[in-house]
Formats: sequence, C-alpha cells, structure tokens
Amino acid sequence: MAMKEDMGDAEISNPRGLAITSTFNVDPADNLTGYKAFTAGAFNFRRDEYFAHITTPKGSHVISVDAFLRALMRDVAWGFFYGTVNFDTVFGTTNYYGEVDMFYGSLNEAFTAEGRDFVERFKSDELMDIFKQMISDWTIEGYDPFAAPQETGTPWGVKDGDNDVAVERQRVTARRMVGLPGDTPVRTDENGFPVNRMFADVDQSQPEVHVEPGFEHEVSAFNLFGYLSRSDVTWNPSVCSVVKDSLFCPTTEEYILPVEHGNDRCEWFIQMSDGISWNIKDGETGRPKALVDMKAGDVACMPADIRHQGFSPKRSMLLVWENGSPMLPDLIRDGKAPNVSVQF
Ligand SMILES: [Fe+2]
Repeated sequence: MAMKEDMGDAEISNPRGLAITSTFNVDPADNLTGYKAFTAGAFNFRRDEYFAHITTPKGSHVISVDAFLRALMRDVAWGFFYGTVNFDTVFGTTNYYGEVDMFYGSLNEAFTAEGRDFVERFKSDELMDIFKQMISDWTIEGYDPFAAPQETGTPWGVKDGDNDVAVERQRVTARRMVGLPGDTPVRTDENGFPVNRMFADVDQSQPEVHVEPGFEHEVSAFNLFGYLSRSDVTWNPSVCSVVKDSLFCPTTEEYILPVEHGNDRCEWFIQMSDGISWNIKDGETGRPKALVDMKAGDVACMPADIRHQGFSPKRSMLLVWENGSPMLPDLIRDGKAPNVSVQF
C-alpha cells in the first residue's frame, strides 16, 4: 500500500521489549472443510465454512471469515502498513518496519484490564509468508477480498478453488508519479481498468502537456479523477506521487474500511467525492473519541495516537496523504514530535 520500499537505516524499535518468535507451522487441509490451519508462535488460525478461529494462550477469538479475509488482504497488500492494523477490536498487528507485533486483546482496555492480552513479535518477512499462504488458501474461487461486496461473490463454504489472481494483485507504488516515463502507467480500458459502475459520469479527458525540449522526463500530468474512477479495488491507498517523504496515496472506498487503522503518525484525508463517515477511537485503549463526517472537499487530519474506521455508503474518492519518514514513530513515541499536525 502506501509504504515506500526503503525505510532507511533506522533502528527497529521494540517498545514492548519482546524477543523474536520464529516457530511456524502449516497443517494439511482439514478432512471436512478442505482448509489448511496455520500456526505462528502461539497463535493458531483455522477457518470453517463461516468463521476464522484464532486461538492464543490467553483465549480464543472468532471473526466472520469475510471480515477476516478483507482485513488480512489489506495487511498483506500493505506490508503491515503504518502502525497498527486492527482486524477488529481484539486481534491485529503493529508494524515496526522489519519486525511486527501480533496481538490478541493488547489494544483493548477490557482485555488488558483483565490480563487477557497476548502479544508476540515476528520478523516481518516470516509472518508475511504465513499470512500470504493463509490468504491464498482461505480465499475461494469467485471471492475477491479487495472488491466491494456488490462486486464479488461470497467466501462461504468449504474449500472450492482459489482466487490467487485477485489476492496477488501488485499494489501501485509509483517511484515519482503515475504516468511518468518508466513509472506506473495511467489506467485505461486497454490495460484492464474499465471505469467503475459508480463513476460512469467522471470526465475521462487527459490534460494537454506541452513540454520544453529536454524536460520530457520531468514534466507530466494526468487526470486523477479519471485514474481513480478506474480503480478495481476498494480501501487500498496506493502511492501515486512521491516528493521525498511526502506520499499521495489516493484510493476509492465503498462499504467499510476492513480494518481499524491505528496510526503511528499523522495522516491527512482529503475527500475528493461523495462522503465517508469515520469512527475514531483511542489507539491504545479503543475508547470512543469522535465521529467525523467528511463530504466532498472536506479535509481532516488523523492524529498519531488514534485508530479510525471509515464507512462509505457509495463508492467515493479519498486522497490519503502520508509522511513516509521512518523517523516519525520514534519521534512521536519519545515526545519529540506532536501527535497532531496543526495546533489552533
Ligand atoms: Fe489510516
């Protein structure tokens, strides 16, 4: 997703002081359901016809498998993303960029107050390998966890084929900007990106660019609304332009953000069309903090210490603006950078 590949030479932080766990296992397909089970450290993952089951030494947890697969898809595609990916109010991952904490109840005040929380730390590439095997095995033919519910089949039932074409989509990570020579291309009918059903009215004309000779590789422009109208996935902010650590990550949204994203830095939202309602909670405890209704043209900045989940009743366009600096999480944790981008 919105991650730059190079996180620099910053030392990997480990606020909980956890040792790395490197035990993994994949159980053969279950005789009844046909699905494999997966173990990472003391976490075990199993799916049946309707649910994903997670067991830990401190308790077990059940998530509807459609919600679980949509969240797992984002965690995989985004490389554990910035900060925390809460699959729901109980289970999730926190990214330390090279290493990752996987937790049960650790960011839920009710669980921590009762000592029912559990967390283990993994090397990111090792846990990612298990997650990728899980999304591949548990996604059946006809179900696309990236798609809006009205644009995909269902995930229910016993093992029946796969949809690796969908779950192995390559995320867009422009090195400079979409459309520049050698960079990620503009979307067209011809390269497999037709206009989405909800964006049939979006102008598809492209800007005319007249470049002084010698600057052909430096000057470019494209129709961002047209580009987003052709996105085939939802809730997948992708890097479309890069200026040093400033990353523009526009995305199209429909239905519910499949995760509660817990920020480890400030994050700007510009609502480009339609509307999204955001449910904002405290990042550490899950206590409710705010509801933010964004209409087209509205701008908001999510603080660095919250989690947020969006609800988009129609497919809408959202520009997510990230600061990709690897220094930020530690500066904020150490109190050297503020939790908010603007103070009035
Ligand atoms: Fe976010």
